[in-house]
Amino acid sequence: MTENLINWNESYSVGNSEMDKQHKKLIGIINKLFNAFKEGNAQNILSDILQEMIDYSNFHLNSEEKLLFKYNYPEKEEHEAKHQSFRNKTEELKELLKKGSEDAHYELIEYLKNWWTNHILVEDMKYSEFLSDK
Ligand SMILES: [Fe+2]
Repeated sequence: MTENLINWNESYSVGNSEMDKQHKKLIGIINKLFNAFKEGNAQNILSDILQEMIDYSNFHLNSEEKLLFKYNYPEKEEHEAKHQSFRNKTEELKELLKKGSEDAHYELIEYLKNWWTNHILVEDMKYSEFLSDK
């Protein structure tokens, strides 16, 4: 039975339909990855979904940064630095998984859940009001 690691609901809405759409799609890929780990899928399947998650995250983080720079959001640099720490951490975990680390599976899942829920509900919410009158 599939279950979700993260459930998008209205409290996740940052008030920008494109960002909400991308967050929903990203959470869908994270849930797919979570289930693939849980079901013990083969390493090549896991690494394909992990790569899909990384690629889509990069697409999303880049488009969010473009939006924040376009409107000159006051905390754009700080926000971008938080995105960069996500990019670095996921690349690091990808390398550990490639080496077959079981612990890295759990670390990755915990990290994704904590990072994205905190990032959307706390960090992204900070730009929500700023963008709402743009
Ligand atoms: Fe963000």
